Amino acid sequence: MSAAATPAGPPPPHAHDVAAAAERRWAWIVAVIIVVLIAMMVITGVKWAAMPPSRVETIDPRTLHISGEFVESNLGTTVAPDGRVVSRLVAQQYSFEPQCIVVPAEMPVTFRATSTDVIHGFIVGTTNVNTMVVPGFVATFTTTFHQTGEHLMPCHEYCGTGHEAMWARVRVISANEFLSRAKAGERLSCVSR
Ligand code: CUA
Repeated sequence: MSAAATPAGPPPPHAHDVAAAAERRWAWIVAVIIVVLIAMMVITGVKWAAMPPSRVETIDPRTLHISGEFVESNLGTTVAPDGRVVSRLVAQQYSFEPQCIVVPAEMPVTFRATSTDVIHGFIVGTTNVNTMVVPGFVATFTTTFHQTGEHLMPCHEYCGTGHEAMWARVRVISANEFLSRAKAGERLSCVSR
């Protein structure tokens, strides 16, 4: 008679070694997972401590329409003296001003937005432009559009009964066309007048 022939018999003499090796292997795997998790916590913690998310820029929502950067004549897209393309807009129940925003393709565009009343937000088509617009604060977002075309820009924070009707359009035109139109220093928008 032999042990190998009887399945219910005592385990072969090396079974303990096999079990011990498996336990050691899993102990190493678990140890590596723990080390990776701790490293992730340390790295993200140090990174966020070294790079605070953003500066906070405040603005008085009661005087937006009267003076300062967000008066109506200053809204739209413009080329700053240093060459940066800046698009300013105001969100309010239940529209964006301007309703149609012109931006150039293949150039960094900085959006600066604020709200006159409640929290709004906007997202531009399938791009990475996505921010909340909070009264009392200026939201900024810099992005580059790579293709010409038109995007919808809906409000994506529930802001009241008219929320679902609150949206604007973003028209991306070629950089050449944009720069020739912006040459005069005027604010560009594609709102039909
Ligand atoms: Cu504005 Cu929803």
